[in-house]
Amino acid sequence: MADQHTLNIQKNLEESVQFIRSRSSLKPRIGVVLGSGLGAFVDQMKVETSLAYDEIPGFIAPTVEGHGGRLLLGHVDSVPVACLQGRIHFYEGHSMAAVVHPVRTIAMLGIESLMLTNSAGGLDPAQKPGDFMIIEDHINLMGDNPLKGPNIAQLGPRFPDMSEAYDRKLNDKMESILKKMGISFSRGVYAGVSGPTYETPAEVRYLRMIGGRAVGMSTVPETIAANHLGLRVCALSCITNPAAGIVDQKLSHDDVTHTAKLVETKFSGFLKEFITTL
Ligand code: HPA
Repeated sequence: MADQHTLNIQKNLEESVQFIRSRSSLKPRIGVVLGSGLGAFVDQMKVETSLAYDEIPGFIAPTVEGHGGRLLLGHVDSVPVACLQGRIHFYEGHSMAAVVHPVRTIAMLGIESLMLTNSAGGLDPAQKPGDFMIIEDHINLMGDNPLKGPNIAQLGPRFPDMSEAYDRKLNDKMESILKKMGISFSRGVYAGVSGPTYETPAEVRYLRMIGGRAVGMSTVPETIAANHLGLRVCALSCITNPAAGIVDQKLSHDDVTHTAKLVETKFSGFLKEFITTL
């Protein structure tokens, strides 16, 4: 007999999947998660079904400004895609299980690969606002893990391997397309923190020292859950600001979303190109 934690997660997943299936028969091959201010990619999609998170049983609507909250099913050229426009963040106070629920749901719909996007602070002074960073690896500093608790064997193994959490082939593909499109980017390690405070300058020095090149408050839980499920994962950050203390300037959420908005079209163009080559 499965424990309550497992039963709740499975029941929520079944309810979400059943509801979505009642609205769409599309079998997505690729999943995309759009981060803060990066929602314009949906204009590149032929959207066939659009569902607000608050109408999908088991989903929670995000509360933060700049984050939509819709599941879109459709095609990018001929590729069937499930796009999560907006995400739930750990700092909103939800459990890790709630944070990764949308990704688990689209995995149940059939995606094979997952592309995560986010806004992040740059830890490398050479990065400029609006640059992109291919996430090669992460450091989980969120103090929690979505797989904590009894393992749900139907989803994946107890101790998932994370030695290639971000798929090298997908990273190389992203790199070649970014180069071809003349987009300024770097590659590096994403330090995932819980937020909601931005970092102190001392924390930023620490994050650089331990090997981080970007810092943000998302992506890590989804990457962990997706690896558990055996999906191929890749992730791209939009560097919206130098992290605290790198330049003498205060951080604000408005500035972060403003920068993301400035590059949204370029970001969407890249995503479209990338997805159609997968
Ligand atoms: N820190 C954490 N998360 C972020 C930042 C930052 O500087 N910028 C965008 N998301």
